Amino acid sequence: MAAGPIASKSGRRSQSGAAPSPLLQRGAILRALGRADATLTIEVADTVDSTNSELLRRHPATDVHRHLLVAETQTAGRGRRGRNWLAVAGGSLTFSLGWRFERTVAHLTGLSLAVGVAVAGALDHSGFGDIELKWPNDLVHQERKLGGILIELSREAIGTTAAIIGVGLNVHLPASVRNKLSVAVTDLTSVGATVAVDRNTLLARIASELATALERYSNQGFAPFVSEWQRRDALVNQPVQIVLPDGKTIRGVAAGVDGAGALLIEDGPRRLRFVNGEVSVRRVT
Ligand code: BTN
Repeated sequence: MAAGPIASKSGRRSQSGAAPSPLLQRGAILRALGRADATLTIEVADTVDSTNSELLRRHPATDVHRHLLVAETQTAGRGRRGRNWLAVAGGSLTFSLGWRFERTVAHLTGLSLAVGVAVAGALDHSGFGDIELKWPNDLVHQERKLGGILIELSREAIGTTAAIIGVGLNVHLPASVRNKLSVAVTDLTSVGATVAVDRNTLLARIASELATALERYSNQGFAPFVSEWQRRDALVNQPVQIVLPDGKTIRGVAAGVDGAGALLIEDGPRRLRFVNGEVSVRRVT
């Protein structure tokens, strides 16, 4: 979540102060993937409006199953609930992966949580520890937003659903940009101060672990991801406020998620259940 193109082709430090970063390159991503996942197709774009929008436009005329589109710059990146997603060229990772599930939309309520588990795991394996998940789709570190997930579903044939799975990660956000944002954010450079971030290698690892997780979800649903999600839950046992679609609010204590990925809230003797997409949740301080 940041603003403005900043990286030059030479990788020199820009006026906005971002660290130089090698450009995203298909060859480098494929080399890093190796044999790990030869079933993904990888496409690198310089600029698109939004990687999610681009794959949605292609679908269904073109088969986007297992197609990963990563963009150096998005001109109209989208977040959840109609928000913008702003990214820094050279200082972010913004990509979308198309996936077809032999399942109905009703079986995909836990999908964004499973994607969060996969991305957090890949970051962990790349040296970025203590990444937490905030229901339904935020990657956070020490209460600051590191990344987000936007999943858009469309029904295909009976019992089949196409998903466009978009992921945005802050890699290096200049202070000048962070200071302009209304939410507290962080980036990988801050999370793993001693870890050199190579976006091509990092993307390959995330893509590979994500593909494995999606195969698992296709076969077994959200159940195998529940315990790992609970382990990374940023809100568990904390007082929270739920904002309903009509603006009304409910207060309670976050009590994890159920086997379908619904958020559980305890309000005295009441136990309430909220499904992804209906509501937003924030910690009450
Ligand atoms: C959120 O936290 O609100 C979700 C943010 C998702 C951003 C990613 S960046 C790649 C893909 N393309 C988009 O336009 N959005 C997603």
